[in-house]
Amino acid sequence: MTIKIRPLKKEDKAALLLILKNTPEFTPDEVIIAEEVVDGSLDKPETSGYFSLGAETETGAFAGFISYGLIPLTQSSWDLYWLAVDRKQQGKGTGTALLKAAEEQIIKAGGKMSFIETSSREQYGKTRHFYITNDYVEICNIADFYAPGDGKIVYRKKLAC
Ligand SMILES: CC(C)(COP(=O)(O)OP(=O)(O)OC[C@H]1O[C@@H](n2cnc3c(N)ncnc32)[C@H](O)[C@@H]1OP(=O)(O)O)[C@@H](O)C(=O)NCCC(=O)NCCS
Repeated sequence: MTIKIRPLKKEDKAALLLILKNTPEFTPDEVIIAEEVVDGSLDKPETSGYFSLGAETETGAFAGFISYGLIPLTQSSWDLYWLAVDRKQQGKGTGTALLKAAEEQIIKAGGKMSFIETSSREQYGKTRHFYITNDYVEICNIADFYAPGDGKIVYRKKLAC
């Protein structure tokens, strides 16, 4: 499958929201926060500090997105805020393509490290495997962070020396 990665467009918003709502890993509260980040990247990327890329299949269907930004008060540490791929398209390389494209943009902007955090819940097992496959290393694991039994795991990738 050929997948095209390009800047996110306002026209993608409806399809993006559908993906978020159809992603069982995300709670309704998470969908609201993700939408705020996406809106910031669409409206004012330079002032919001949020940037987003979208993925498109060869037939032009919207397949997923990634949002990222420089962590405030750091010189070159970037956060990957949200990443989601249409359930029908998962496991075909779209998430990897989005991640690599975001990392390329981060490096171009002078970024040296990228971080991503996720939940320790069993439901996120495939997601954690995805990060490890993409050379992210677990650097922090805080038990019961989000809720009792739901810890926070932080992964880091060094992008440049
Ligand atoms: C995590 C996610 C972004 C990965 O995108 P993807 O396009 O499915 O991933 P890819 O096809 O590029 O990579 C596949 C690898 O990721 C793993 N993977 C993670 N989630 C997967 C899923 N739902 N289906 C299939 N493979 C998945 C596979 O095990 C595979 O590893 P392998 O090659 O060693 O078998 C996507 O599955 C997704 O949107 N999940 C739900 C939302 C989420 O967890 N987002 C991240 C937290 S913000």
